[in-house]
Amino acid sequence: MKSILEAPFLVEMVRTTTNMYNHGWDERNGGNISLLLDTDEVAQYLDMDKVIRTIPTGFTAPELEGKCFLVTGTGKYFKNVQYAPDVNLGIVRLTEKGQQAELLWGFSDGGQFTSEFPAHMMSHVARLSVNPENRVVMHCHPANLLAMTYVHDLDERAFTRTLWQMCTECIVVFPEGVNVLPWMLCGTNEIGEATAEKMRTARLVVWSQHGIYGAGKDLDETFGLIETAEKAAEIYLKIAHLPLKNTITDEAMHLLEKRFNIKAREGYLD
Ligand code: 13P
Ligand code: ZN
Repeated sequence: MKSILEAPFLVEMVRTTTNMYNHGWDERNGGNISLLLDTDEVAQYLDMDKVIRTIPTGFTAPELEGKCFLVTGTGKYFKNVQYAPDVNLGIVRLTEKGQQAELLWGFSDGGQFTSEFPAHMMSHVARLSVNPENRVVMHCHPANLLAMTYVHDLDERAFTRTLWQMCTECIVVFPEGVNVLPWMLCGTNEIGEATAEKMRTARLVVWSQHGIYGAGKDLDETFGLIETAEKAAEIYLKIAHLPLKNTITDEAMHLLEKRFNIKAREGYLD
């Protein structure tokens, strides 16, 4: 059997967590990622009948029955994933309508999946219902987006329009906009359900005064989505206190829609 440490999905996960740490998005144990795996591919690396232990999830998600996820561990530092992937990451298979997670690999110090597992799994259900190709849910604490939630109106249309106006390609990268949750207690089923509901209409969900969730078909795409929104937030914070002389007009945004064959969220452009 091939070594799991050489599996492309594992290599990519290690690279992504390292890159996110290097971007300053994941201080200490901040942030978490879950990647939906192809079960047949996992079977090339692991004995699928060998369950190390079973961990209750605390929620129900029948849509995910039998599905396997590579997920970051709770309390683990993205900084350290590259040095000890088997401690900081785990592969779990959901059973009993999603109420149990069978550990197939990883969390080798006795650890378990991220405390944000409900938000991740419920978001997977929501995104898969919109796009069966969606495999990634990613959460992190990028400073500029977070800072923006202290000084900007949290209305989703207003928040989205500001981000779109900060870089020409924002509307192209996330034409559906950014959804926003008010501050809520993290690590709970409640914030999981609220995040999943927001994930039905956008791949980016801001957690006010906390961070952001992104979803996408692979790690690269999801990273790029957050990267683009975070760059826009950075520009916003550079200019917010200065007199505004120019902007990207709605007329220009309509030209971008045509040029890139995208459709901005209904009602978000004048
Ligand atoms: P975990 O260490 O449980 O993944 O939590 C980190 C975090 O960002 C909580 O929102
Ligand atoms: Zn967090």
